[in-house]
Parts: sequence; structure tokens; C-alpha cells
Amino acid sequence: MDDFFTLRTVTWEDGAVRMIDQTALPIKLSYVRYTRPDQVASAIKTMVVRGAPAIGVAAAMGLALAAARSRATKLPDFMREMESAAAMLRATRPTAVNLFWGIDRVMKKAGSAPSVRQAKEAVSAEVKAMEEEDIQVNRRLGSNGANLIHDGDTVLTQCNAGALATVGYGTALGVVRAAVEQGKLVRVLVPETRPALQGARLTAFELARDRIACTLISDTAVGHMMSLGRVDCVIVGADRITRDGYVFNKIGTYQEAVLAKRHGIPFYPAAPSSTFDLARIHGNVIIEERGADEVVKIRGKRIAPKGVPVANPAFDMTPPELVTSMITERGLISAPFEENIPRLIS
Ligand code: MRU
Repeated sequence: MDDFFTLRTVTWEDGAVRMIDQTALPIKLSYVRYTRPDQVASAIKTMVVRGAPAIGVAAAMGLALAAARSRATKLPDFMREMESAAAMLRATRPTAVNLFWGIDRVMKKAGSAPSVRQAKEAVSAEVKAMEEEDIQVNRRLGSNGANLIHDGDTVLTQCNAGALATVGYGTALGVVRAAVEQGKLVRVLVPETRPALQGARLTAFELARDRIACTLISDTAVGHMMSLGRVDCVIVGADRITRDGYVFNKIGTYQEAVLAKRHGIPFYPAAPSSTFDLARIHGNVIIEERGADEVVKIRGKRIAPKGVPVANPAFDMTPPELVTSMITERGLISAPFEENIPRLIS
């Protein structure tokens, strides 16, 4: 069944990073190849690559490019160059904690090497390992969550938490893939996810490619579909889950969680341990505010009057009381989250 799940979003190719250009989807599946860290930073900013785990690995690879290109011969000079590339990559997007996790992991590797040559080798090996690990972690997460889906279920998701948001396989859609691999018939209800349309452009694309049944709906149809009994459970990804159990994910997730509670539908965030931020509680997370153009235009075409004031928060926060349980590669986490998150994720 392996060749059924073939999208590989980010790849390290010794001295270059290859990634799917997600801005071209679903019209064209094309790849870009970068050799400089500033190219990777710009790709993260402009959402050529997006999704928390994918940007974590991409940023780590951006740093590996900085290492590979360095002409420094002394470690302190090398580390200064690495710090400056790390600062540039950290400034790309603020909400997904995986970005910082990926950068910190590479910086630690570089910082503990005894020579520049060994640091370069260690960093290159580390990003290749992170790439492979991402898929293994998602597969474990998927199989931990698959039993929550019953044969014939319809799963509502949000945004894209699939292969395209990770190196491969996906988190929320990884759970769906694992249930399909178990032989279950599963349908995914895909909200288009305005303003950047990751649901319509990316989730619908990757599900269709893998022949997993899906129905695309407008974001505004979510409550109605629940009220008709057409949603069995909600499975979403996460960009950051704080120590106290608050889930930061794509804008629109919170309203799905509130509506799920109203209709007695289980709500499951699915995320690898790298998405948990044990250092923060919910008040201390920056929610990215993106440009007005995403809202006043659809794919470049204006749909609102010039000059209208716009707010464009890219993420929202779902409180733990709306969460049934969290799906991770280490197992399921249930309430009380404040106690059980630090117990499982350390
Ligand atoms: O703005 P994006 O497309 O990077 O947002 C992505 C999401 O919100 C995903 O749901 C989240 O990163 C989890 S991906 C496994």
C-alpha cells in the first residue's frame, strides 16, 4: 500500500532542499530546489511550504544550507553565521512551535561539534534524520488514532494537516490514512478554509490523489452539516499546544470545536510531540496576523471594496474543555490535560 501515499513535501538532497511548491497546487504539482537559507526563509513566509511539521523540517534544512555554504574555518565564526541564519528563519512565522523546535535541534547539533567539518557533517545527518523521523512519527500517530474512526465514519477536518503539512503521511490526515489502511471506509469533510484555501487547494488535492473519499464544503456549512448528523468526529492538526492544553491551529478550528461540543461530536487534535510547547501557557502565544490581500482577494481577484478595514488572524485557540482527547505518536492524551501533557510529553 506504500506507493498509495507518495507525496514527499520536503527532501534534503545534500547541499539543496527540494520541496513541493504548494502555491501552485492544485493546478500543478511542481517542485522547487533551494541552495540558500534566505530562499528557504522566503518559501516559509510565502507559504511555498506550510504546515507546522513541514516548516520545522524546512527551517532545519535552511540552516543546514547555511552550514554547507559556510567558508568559516573556526567554530566561533561558523556559529556566528549559523546564529544569523537561525534568526532569519525564526522571523518567518510566529505561531507554529515546530519551526523553533527544528531550528533549536540543528543549532544544538552544530554547537556540540568539535570542529567546523564535523559540525557540517552532523547538521547534514541531523536534517536527513529529521526528514525520515517525521514520516515514522506520523505513522505511529496515525495508528494510535485510527481506532477512534469507525468503518463508514465521516471525519471533519480543517485546513491541511496532511502529507503536505508534514514531510509525508500527515497528522490529522495521517489518522485517516491509517484508518483507511485498516480497511475502513472513511469520508473526509473538507472545509475550504478561507482565506488561504488550504482545504480546497491542498487537502482535497491530496485526498483525491490517494483516492480517499472527500466532500468539499464552504467554511460556513460546518454547523449545518453537524446538525444534519453528517459528521461523526472532528480531527484537526495543531501548530502549537501549550502546557495547559490550549490548541492553536488554523483559523476556524475553534468554531468547529464549539459546534462539535454543541452536537456531542468528539473533537480530536492530532499532533506530534514536537508541536507541544511545555514552556508556554496559552496567554503567551503569538497568533500570526497576515496581510489584508488574502481576505479582500481570492486568488488575486478582488472581492471586497478597496480600503475596507480587514482583520486576518491566521490561527485561533481552542480551550482544553472542548477537546475530547489529543492524538500523538506517544499515545492519546485525555483530561486533565494540564497534568497529562507534561506526563506524556517531556
Ligand atoms: O498557515 P498554515 O497553512 O501553515 O497552517 C497550517 C495549519 O494550521 C495546520 O492545521 C497545522 O500546521 C497542523 S499541520 C500537521
